[in-house]
Amino acid sequence: MIKKTNAIWITGAGSGIGKAVAAEFCKQKKYVIASARNGKALLEVKDILKEFGNYFIPFPLDVSKRNLLEKKLSKLSQNYFIKTLVNNAGITSFNHAENENFENIERIIKVNLLGAIFAAKLVLPEMIKRRKGTIINILSVASKKIFTQSSVYSASKAGLEAYMNVLREEVRKYNIKVINIFPGATKTAIWPDEMLEQFSKRMMLPEDIAEFIFSLYSSNTSIVPEEVVLRPIQGDLQ
Ligand SMILES: NC(=O)c1ccc[n+]([C@@H]2O[C@H](COP(=O)([O-])OP(=O)(O)OC[C@H]3O[C@@H](n4cnc5c(N)ncnc54)[C@H](OP(=O)(O)O)[C@@H]3O)[C@@H](O)[C@H]2O)c1
Repeated sequence: MIKKTNAIWITGAGSGIGKAVAAEFCKQKKYVIASARNGKALLEVKDILKEFGNYFIPFPLDVSKRNLLEKKLSKLSQNYFIKTLVNNAGITSFNHAENENFENIERIIKVNLLGAIFAAKLVLPEMIKRRKGTIINILSVASKKIFTQSSVYSASKAGLEAYMNVLREEVRKYNIKVINIFPGATKTAIWPDEMLEQFSKRMMLPEDIAEFIFSLYSSNTSIVPEEVVLRPIQGDLQ
């Protein structure tokens, strides 16, 4: 087998939780393939993280564009083995179902659900061949509990949860771990400014989530934490 560099592929690594996870892995000297649509944002993160070494590799792409994604990943895979995928790229809207427009519906499902399934499909063959790998999915408490004004978002996360639960059963035999993480409110730009102004003090910090994810990743035991719910100490916002 060709000698490749082991890497962690994080989607949505240009801001928020994904950026914090990327920073944590780079600090721990792990190679991070960092994706987002905005390449400039990725270069800025790379610049911030250069003090830890050259572990942050910007890899701009749109996870919902399957053909391009496939082409780009096959090229990248010549040099890197994606040992861990962090399916984190995600978008939302805060509209009532009756007012949600079709464009938003399509976009949210394409990015949150299809994009994550495409990414997993692309990394699986080599994980199976090598009999190792971890897929970490950043889902949401919104697929566990009902929040209004998040119908499409909740559907996208619940759909991905169902897909990943089935996948987990199918790939256990190859020593591949599938970990579903369900965060509650976290202080990132996904929230409208008014919500951040009102609630940011009681939200979780992306850096705390990143530290937790690294501890899951680095635990080398016989355990797979299949589902992890993370909430702010004071609970949900509503
Ligand atoms: N913040 C919370 O309270 C919370 C709670 C539970 C779960 N989550 C989940 O956590 C994940 C990260 O969200 P966040 O809160 O950190 O928000 P964020 O700061 O807005 O980060 C979202 C990231 O996803 C990227 N992204 C969006 N569309 C993309 C696409 N089509 N292809 C590739 N990358 C794309 C964005 O970069 P570009 O715009 O440059 O593409 C950005 O880097 C999401 O899946 C979200 O649902 C968040």
